Amino acid sequence: MTTAALHEKALISANDLSHTFGSGEVRLQVLRQVNVDFYPGEIAIIMGPSGSGKTTLLTLAGALRSIQEGSIVIGGIELRGATPDRLLAVRHQIGFIFQAHNLLESLNARENVQMGLVHRTDLTIDEIRSRSMAMLERVGLAGHEHKHPPQLSGGQRQRVAVARALVREPSIIMADEPTAALDKTSGREIVELLQRLAREMRSAVLMVTHDNRILDLADRILTLEDGRVEENHRGLERVADLLKEGINRIARYPAFFAGGPRHTPSSDYTAFADETQRMLSRAHADIHVLVARRLCVNLVFEAKMLADLSDVIGLLEEGVRQFGDLFCERPASVSTNLVNSFFESLEFLLQTAAEAVSSRKMEDIDMLNRLTEDRGPMMESLRARHFERDNAASRQVQDYGFDISNLFARLIYFLHVLAGQLAGLGREQKKL
Ligand SMILES: Nc1ncnc2c1ncn2[C@@H]1O[C@H](COP(=O)(O)OP(=O)(O)OP(=O)(O)O)[C@@H](O)[C@H]1O
Ligand SMILES: [Mg+2]
Repeated sequence: MTTAALHEKALISANDLSHTFGSGEVRLQVLRQVNVDFYPGEIAIIMGPSGSGKTTLLTLAGALRSIQEGSIVIGGIELRGATPDRLLAVRHQIGFIFQAHNLLESLNARENVQMGLVHRTDLTIDEIRSRSMAMLERVGLAGHEHKHPPQLSGGQRQRVAVARALVREPSIIMADEPTAALDKTSGREIVELLQRLAREMRSAVLMVTHDNRILDLADRILTLEDGRVEENHRGLERVADLLKEGINRIARYPAFFAGGPRHTPSSDYTAFADETQRMLSRAHADIHVLVARRLCVNLVFEAKMLADLSDVIGLLEEGVRQFGDLFCERPASVSTNLVNSFFESLEFLLQTAAEAVSSRKMEDIDMLNRLTEDRGPMMESLRARHFERDNAASRQVQDYGFDISNLFARLIYFLHVLAGQLAGLGREQKKL
């Protein structure tokens, strides 16, 4: 699956979205170049201090407020500069739920739900009634349809509001503090209900809340602060750090052999390799937790890429270890200089890789990519220089040359795969 394919499926895509209230002295920039995507079937919770712009973001994404700067695309429609008709059509795809449920007291529960379908001129009044009744049943209010809001509890009123939003079968549900007026149990029940129905309908839910007790129901948590959106993926950063350290350590491996002939791997080397191995397993465990929590499409995607990355780093580590073993076992007639020249090339490549892993800069990744792209000529020249043209070389030395250059070719291949993984991650991160 490519990154591009994932992004094409975003239901809502905000790009460089900025918003300002007032002008001159009272000018207040609420959103600063916000970039965020929402996907079908996911529940995204938006948090942040009071006044941080949560409601502003929601009303912009809900086509309830006009866009000043940047863009929002919903289901392929650009909201910026869209005609009022188009904006209305977009609003009809969205189910809104607010903190104060906004029910009309003069209407009973069923009639309030029917309000969610007033724009559906294609339906008969009987169809509108029966759909509304069915939705009331789904939110657990069968038998309460004739009650007016004052005769319902807070939780029941909010259920009516949920039914009114969902009766449209919206592709997007926007909820602004839907649990604020409810006690802990009813608040959680409302969000669980929303979660279940949203999953069934494959709708995206954007929910603003201050309620820490429901965060575990979210697929993603976004925090607005100083006009910017922070996505909570510290777990991922930790994994990235572990992998970074892993490759940096591996890049220092050759130095352990280059010092001169050794007959057995030194204890330093063994401790070093074991520690690297432990670090990689920790990274693996963390990645599994992240994938299991399925924080969001992007994160799962990125975590999988990191898992692949750590596999490649594991293979490299194993390769370098074998390289070291070969070095220690080399036939007496193979000169140290010869093997050191392999190490020098490998060390240079590994340092380039370490640089690319820590910086994640496109130019460093490109460099690694170019260096490892075409390993044919590099291998040929190494082989020719050191082994094959030397007719006097013993069979043992020729075999040794073959083994070591094959292993080298494999390591270059792994580094090339690594460059590909890093390039993919780089693209993904730019988007986040
Ligand atoms: N129509 C408006 N005119 C001027 N300023 C506004 C307007 N609407 C919002 N603001 C200001 O913009 C900032 C963001 O408001 P917003 O309602 O988006 O915050 P919020 O994060 O939803 O806060 P809360 O958690 O209190 O609901 C606030 O400082 C607010 O005073
Ligand atoms: Mg608000």
